[in-house]
Amino acid sequence: MLFPYWIDGPWGQEYSAQLGGSLDGMLTEFAVLSEEGVVQIPDHLSFEEAAALPCAGVTAWNALTGGRPLQAGDTVLTLGSGGVSLFALQFAKLFGARVIATTSSDDKAERLKALGADDVVNYHTTPDWDVAVRELTNGRGVDCVVEVGGAGTLEKSIKSTTIEGQISLVGWLAKDKSTIDINVISSTVLTLRRIAVGSRAQFIAMNRAIAVNRLKPVIDRVFPFDDALAAYRYYEDGQYFGKVIVSECGESPLQRG
Ligand SMILES: NC(=O)c1ccc[n+]([C@@H]2O[C@H](COP(=O)([O-])OP(=O)(O)OC[C@H]3O[C@@H](n4cnc5c(N)ncnc54)[C@H](OP(=O)(O)O)[C@@H]3O)[C@@H](O)[C@H]2O)c1
Repeated sequence: MLFPYWIDGPWGQEYSAQLGGSLDGMLTEFAVLSEEGVVQIPDHLSFEEAAALPCAGVTAWNALTGGRPLQAGDTVLTLGSGGVSLFALQFAKLFGARVIATTSSDDKAERLKALGADDVVNYHTTPDWDVAVRELTNGRGVDCVVEVGGAGTLEKSIKSTTIEGQISLVGWLAKDKSTIDINVISSTVLTLRRIAVGSRAQFIAMNRAIAVNRLKPVIDRVFPFDDALAAYRYYEDGQYFGKVIVSECGESPLQRG
């Protein structure tokens, strides 16, 4: 668990100790962890696949279930094809939701469709993607946005959302200066809900859904432990689709057992 002391309930300052933050990270061969800070891996996943879950997976799960719970028939908007957004797409389909995804290229659009996205909008060729999302929902807007862009996308996300919908505020990939027009907020009653990964209870609930549906995280590439630096460089280059994993065991994802 990224927040090893957050067991259940709402996030609080008392749970802020974080692996890779105020606590040592996991780029290590051995680690001593608190008993309540680990959860069981779904049986069908390798360690490498499971390594994708604690941050991106739990965050997407919290974004879709922690506030206004997602319902079958809802429409979810995901932004880009990063780790959180891919999990959000996969989970939203488990819940029977429609997914509209944005991305930067037609190639990634095809891969998002192969993963289950119902509609994809290229935000480079369609800079007014909020208008496209509105059109795709017959003017109503989506029920839920998993907002990973931050300042550079939030206004368009608000304009893409139905009047009583919810935006889960996750990230800040689009680092532009915020120029949100306050009238855009005051013309809606939607909920803006900030996400801080998720609790142990949410992690366990997510793993249950992953196990029953035999869902596989999208892994782009696994680097051996000794090439960890190359893994970071590869991630920095941004030419991936799915999680970049560093494994003690090298290139091929190993099965446990
Ligand atoms: N609050 C939390 O608890 C929490 C937890 C996890 C992550 N985060 C934050 O959430 C964000 C996403 O994390 P991640 O791990 O999913 O990131 P990631 O895997 O690094 O996402 C990279 C992808 O984001 C897309 N992207 C980049 N700029 C974009 C833009 N302007 N508009 C739309 N999409 C854009 C690109 O996909 P395309 O080429 O397909 O557009 C890119 O490949 C980060 O800021 C991260 O720090 C927050």
